[in-house]
Amino acid sequence: MDLKSNIDLKKLPAHIAIIMDGNGRWAKKHGRPRVFGHKNGVTAVRETTEAAAELGIKYLTLYAFSTENWNRPAFEVNALMALLVETIRKEINTLNKNNIKLHAIGDLSRLPKRSYKALMKGIESTQHNTRMTLVLALNYSAKWEIMNAVKNLAQQAVDKKLVPEEINESDFENVLSTQGIPDPELLIRTSGETRLSNFLLWQVAYTELYFTPTFWPDFRKEHLFEAILDFQNRERRFGMTSDQLTT
Ligand code: FPP
Repeated sequence: MDLKSNIDLKKLPAHIAIIMDGNGRWAKKHGRPRVFGHKNGVTAVRETTEAAAELGIKYLTLYAFSTENWNRPAFEVNALMALLVETIRKEINTLNKNNIKLHAIGDLSRLPKRSYKALMKGIESTQHNTRMTLVLALNYSAKWEIMNAVKNLAQQAVDKKLVPEEINESDFENVLSTQGIPDPELLIRTSGETRLSNFLLWQVAYTELYFTPTFWPDFRKEHLFEAILDFQNRERRFGMTSDQLTT
């Protein structure tokens, strides 16, 4: 079956977020070290980015490194950071050719200098691209993001720039790292795990969740198309009844 041609281009999610999981288990299955899994994960990143852009998805967010990932063995953390630098450097031209803008969310100040520099260069040189925004969540954790937002609003209140009783959802969203980015309509997690793992907790309030047993390094365009088709077959009610939606 040609999955892509079954997708209704008028009902695409504007923003898809992905928890890329299973690199380590994929490597183990192939009798190789974990880092081999991460390296092969880059192929999946490329395929997914290409497929999303081809379809007309406006935002693709990839959970590339969580705050909790610092607890992994130093060797693996270093390898992931090096892979990030290498991938960004290698892919800048392709991103530009395809009119894709690179963006990042997370506590970027704590990234190693080399990774930070490569990331900033990638962001800067793609800043005028308009077809799709590729958001990398790096040293990201939703609780960190929410705490940061709370501190920001509290400071604004102390500075008398806002009145606590009048704080609304949009004030809060304006101090999140996803400011200006629509909430994801579809969240995909690979490798059979069914957790949110501290990812975009505020933003996924109404997001459709899609879990696939496929390990991230095996994730290809067809897997993304499958997830989107599944999403398009769901009824999104936002707390209303089915009847309210059709009338
Ligand atoms: C989860 O698999 C994956 C990660 C923590 C890192 C994802 C990174 C990449 C795909 C490569 C670099 C990405 C970019 C955007 C350049 P896991 O290690 O938790 O797997 P496991 O659960 O099987 O151990």
